[in-house]
Amino acid sequence: MIVAMKVEHLTLRNFRNYAHCELELHPRLNILVGQNAQGKTNLLESVHFLSTGRSHRTSNQYDLIRWDTTGFFLHARIKKRNVRAQIDFRLDASRKRELKINGIPERKLSSLLGVLNSVLFTPEDLQLLKGPPALRRRFLDIELSQVSAVYLYALQQYNRALIQRNNLLRSFEGKVTNPVALETWTEQLVKYGARVTRLRQQALKALAKYAAPSLHQISGGKEKLSLIYRPWGLKVECGETESEITRVFWEILQRQHANELRRGVTLVGPHRDDFVSLLNGIDVREFGSQGQQRSTVLALKMAELAFMYEITGNYPVLLLDDVLSELDEKRRQALLYEVDHGIQTIITGTEASLFTGLRDKEVLVAEIVNGRISIVQQ
Ligand SMILES: Nc1ncnc2c1ncn2[C@@H]1O[C@H](COP(=O)(O)OP(=O)(O)OP(=O)(O)O)[C@@H](O)[C@H]1O
Ligand SMILES: [Mg+2]
Repeated sequence: MIVAMKVEHLTLRNFRNYAHCELELHPRLNILVGQNAQGKTNLLESVHFLSTGRSHRTSNQYDLIRWDTTGFFLHARIKKRNVRAQIDFRLDASRKRELKINGIPERKLSSLLGVLNSVLFTPEDLQLLKGPPALRRRFLDIELSQVSAVYLYALQQYNRALIQRNNLLRSFEGKVTNPVALETWTEQLVKYGARVTRLRQQALKALAKYAAPSLHQISGGKEKLSLIYRPWGLKVECGETESEITRVFWEILQRQHANELRRGVTLVGPHRDDFVSLLNGIDVREFGSQGQQRSTVLALKMAELAFMYEITGNYPVLLLDDVLSELDEKRRQALLYEVDHGIQTIITGTEASLFTGLRDKEVLVAEIVNGRISIVQQ
């Protein structure tokens, strides 16, 4: 039996189109069926929010408050191994926010990270490889922040240094007027930037280790996947240790000094990171067929599960939003194979028929109509 995190119970109050919902989840498979616009994605969004402290659909938390109400409340009871945890989160329209973990008030939203780990897979994720680099950075950030407090801290400090440094560079108008301040922020930028880069690079390597065999399987043995990290958006080798990365980062920054002054902005650093996926040596982003891109994203998502398990010793909860209809039979089977291995999964779809073959197993099937959930099978 594998070790996996489970959400045992979920409460939503005035969250999106839910007035009040109490849901006892199945430890394995939870199938939520509903027509369009009934609240399937909203429910997954609530779990993902408790997991990451943010919504995957909006950067404005106030959007999550049910219209014409004054605030929302979410509660989850979680089990990892034999330890139970509870999260309570409340947001008032009057801008008051309250987070409690195991009943203890927490000031920072980031305290949530690691309490309930999840991997969310939505049809939009199929754009992960075609879309802009920011999507791929976000992919790595969300994954790493959940499993590594060191990463989260380094990223926050890096972003802070980046903002301060950019403000300074902009204020210089082409000529250094405050060299001491610039040096201080550059030091911070390099220190935390090198750490972010090292951890992202390591994570990508681990992801490749897991994604390659599953892609091999999905493609019937035809495709070989490799993932290549592009530090700072450049085609350079930045080394593997933090001291090597630091050295290369300094060098490039020095070379870019005049450019940065002229442009008034930081030109190199993890805020420009990207990665490239190659199938049999060919860039999927530029030359991959739609099917190859889907398979690669699917393999990456499944690799995330294994990666998080490797780091934390627990499999995360898997949230699958309407993805079965987007995948063909072969890829669907590959995905459901994972589901069968004891990871708690919440999966949504518009058609009950998508889930035939799964329903005879031990599962929870529920129907969502207009923000109300009714159990069909337990
Ligand atoms: N803050 C809110 N208050 C009330 N209703 C909201 C709020 N935000 C979104 N909604 C409504 O929630 C409804 C359901 O949204 P959701 O995205 O969960 O649907 P869905 O079941 O996933 O549909 P689809 O199958 O089309 O993806 C939408 O009609 C939307 O108008
Ligand atoms: Mg939806």
